[in-house]
Amino acid sequence: MVEVSPSIISSDLSHLYDEIKRCEDAGAGSFHLDVMDGHFVNNITMGPDLIRAIRKSTGLRLDAHLMIERPDKYYKSFLDAGADVLLIHYESPVNTMELLKKFHRENIRYGIVINPETNFERVKSLIENAEILLIMSVNPGFSGQKFIDDSLIKVSQAREFIRANNLKTRIEIDGGINDETGRLAANAGADILVSASFIFKNGVINPIKTLKNF
Ligand code: DX5
Ligand code: ZN
Repeated sequence: MVEVSPSIISSDLSHLYDEIKRCEDAGAGSFHLDVMDGHFVNNITMGPDLIRAIRKSTGLRLDAHLMIERPDKYYKSFLDAGADVLLIHYESPVNTMELLKKFHRENIRYGIVINPETNFERVKSLIENAEILLIMSVNPGFSGQKFIDDSLIKVSQAREFIRANNLKTRIEIDGGINDETGRLAANAGADILVSASFIFKNGVINPIKTLKNF
């Protein structure tokens, strides 16, 4: 079974608490929080205050996907708001290596994210201490985009590397996940499937159950 991580920003935010409970009841394993600052990507979404409200509503793990230019400057406010795992883009215009080392030293849970144009090779040496390797299967910024098929190659490469080196890092995939692409990603070795449109445009319960059973 794979873990399903609904991207909560695409839910009906006027009924946030109910949406969270519906996802939990359907078997979600965590929640994915898409944080966008209008600089790193061309869109603006949630900040720490909304995460604080989500934290009050669920005990499930909260992963903050930081699509922001200065994760080094703002990460603490996301932790204070209640995020459990910080997902940091390898492409962030900061010293990513230093930031991740700092997280490791300070026991901050983190994952590394790679965009579609970044090869797995680039992060190979960084994933050992990362809880999650998030492979983007769309260019970050918007939900509802088409899945990029080449991402599956990266999932297989990562799966093989993790197996060969006996690592605990979990592979997550984000973007364009539905009942077809979710199956392909799970078969290629993904442990966690993130989804926004497929879940929240189709009534939550069935989509989560479908994805979970891949
Ligand atoms: C894209 C975000 C994704 C997105 C997924 O920048 O990181 O998490 O919301 O949306 P769907 O599942 O609709 O592709
Ligand atoms: Zn995301």
